[in-house]
Amino acid sequence: MKTTKRTCLIKTDPMKQVNYSFEYEVYDSEMELQAPDRDLLRQAMQAVAGSYAPYSRYHVGAAVKLVNGRVITGSNQENMSFPAGLCAERVAVFAAVSAYPETPVEAIAITAVSDVFEVSEPVSPCGVCRQAIVEYEMKFGNKIRLILGGQTGRVFVFNGMSSLLPLAFREKGLAK
Ligand code: THU
Repeated sequence: MKTTKRTCLIKTDPMKQVNYSFEYEVYDSEMELQAPDRDLLRQAMQAVAGSYAPYSRYHVGAAVKLVNGRVITGSNQENMSFPAGLCAERVAVFAAVSAYPETPVEAIAITAVSDVFEVSEPVSPCGVCRQAIVEYEMKFGNKIRLILGGQTGRVFVFNGMSSLLPLAFREKGLAK
């Protein structure tokens, strides 16, 4: 069989490079926050007391504020079978949305305390929690404000979880 080397003359689009950027607010300490954000972060700090983290000794607290003003808190719950544990954000958001399924989530504050070192940077939610929370932004059609703190130091505020998870898994077919 004869093979002919051909040059493809079909003009294709050149590769498109997409640039993604996002913005967030940085505060030097919780004292600089607006009062509602500071209050929610303090409730997250109080929720740390409920953490069960004998393995990591890293205690996370989360406070979920709904648009009706209610605040539901949660903390990380670990397990001897490590993957069975759950992050504070999901404990809190699942409790909130299961108690108030029709009430949008307005904001979530997250913070942590370690028995081993000082958490001096804001806690940044893990990828699974980002995906879980983006789902509620989709369900309710609003952005969820995020207030991220640590034991000491700066606080970051994000207007929406989606900015922290570009190209989150979304499949319209599954929502039918
Ligand atoms: N953890 C959270 O609760 N939230 C996060 O966003 C990151 C990690 C918990 C899971 C585990 O119990 C401990 O922190 C150490 O990874």
